[in-house]
Amino acid sequence: MRMTDILEKKKKGDVLSRDEIAFFVEGYTKGTIPDYQASAFTMAVLFQGLNKEETAALTDCMMHSGEVIDLSAIEGVKVDKHSTGGVGDKTSLVLGPLVASCGAKVAKMSGRGLGHTGGTLDKLESIRGMSVSLSKEAFREQVRQIGISIIGQTGDLVPADKKLYALRDVTATVDSIPLIASSIMSKKLASGSDTILLDVKFGSGAFMKTLEDAKTLARAMVEIGRSLGRDTRAVITDMDQPLGYAVGNSLEVMEAVNTLRGKGPKDLEELCVSLGAIMLDQAGIVKDTETAKSLLRQKIASGEAYAKLKEMVRAQGGDVSQLDDPSRFCDVAASVTVYADREGYVHAIEALTVGEVAMHLGAGRATKEDTIDMAAGIVLRKKIGDYVKCKEPLAVIYTNKEAYQPMAEALSGAFVILPEQAKENPLIYTVIA
Ligand code: URA
Repeated sequence: MRMTDILEKKKKGDVLSRDEIAFFVEGYTKGTIPDYQASAFTMAVLFQGLNKEETAALTDCMMHSGEVIDLSAIEGVKVDKHSTGGVGDKTSLVLGPLVASCGAKVAKMSGRGLGHTGGTLDKLESIRGMSVSLSKEAFREQVRQIGISIIGQTGDLVPADKKLYALRDVTATVDSIPLIASSIMSKKLASGSDTILLDVKFGSGAFMKTLEDAKTLARAMVEIGRSLGRDTRAVITDMDQPLGYAVGNSLEVMEAVNTLRGKGPKDLEELCVSLGAIMLDQAGIVKDTETAKSLLRQKIASGEAYAKLKEMVRAQGGDVSQLDDPSRFCDVAASVTVYADREGYVHAIEALTVGEVAMHLGAGRATKEDTIDMAAGIVLRKKIGDYVKCKEPLAVIYTNKEAYQPMAEALSGAFVILPEQAKENPLIYTVIA
């Protein structure tokens, strides 16, 4: 088999066989196929697409390019959830302990933040002492004992995606639905859970900017999961404004703690209860999603969901006293309030701008090598639909950087305030099951 023949076929829009796709994935992972041929391949796929069978074959080959985690020694249904990323998205910090407190097994491998989106691992590391790099044995043992562990991906999981994603990033070939779907799903499938729930976000702060694109991506991922024998479902959710009020690592952990204690923002709690109900249904723990929702709310009210978070943090070496007393999270040099310059209703809070401002304040990474300031970030005081008076606070910035004034101005510009009442977006648009 020759790579040039495969490229010729895809260039013309022909369908590739499983063997041809396997030849490409193996060769590129081992280094026998060079970057220039792999970039021609990704560009041909970007223009010609892949059909369902080709996308499933690409995912399967990528998934088996490295280690596949075996969680079969853990009793019960292992549930997983993945978000395509957003601003202020601390869902995993709430949802993981919440569903684990209902008896589901959460063996979760998460990622780090890049650009305007945050990552669960960075947020967890804002808790003093918390380790997110456990050995596979320790990870499995913790899930067996307490029902939950959240760690970073092990080194040899899906090496094909590691190489291919980095290449796509520099060859303008990230935005291809079959390539995104196979990239995300190969990692989810390799991390070994029995069920997968995908939270596909769309809007200004998300990877997918339109509802149609979000649905197409969600359907592609659900089809891949199903064709490879996993119960996979997807939920399309709003990212036209940040989720909750807090954006930034330790600020988001504090908001997650408040939510697990029943004192969190309405949108975050509603999203976690809705996603949690689907995960419990996937795990076969409840007879229907309405029963699941009341069980989840009961676990918040009783304190069991919060106790589960503390159990996980303690097991991974984190300082749980910090969770009980948020003032023990590290301090910042300045907190600056951003005020409204007119009165009216908040119609939009450009999530991309909020994410970028948070990143420039130190809460995120512009490049993979940047270090994060765990205490930096933003707390919104108003959300879409709220009425605001002139000179009332819109948000507070927390930073250790001195030159914060341009960031305060950019944040103020993210708010669209108009005289007429604003319509709130639905939080969940549709469920693809
Ligand atoms: N996230 C991934 O893991 N892969 C993509 O291709 C895009 C987003």
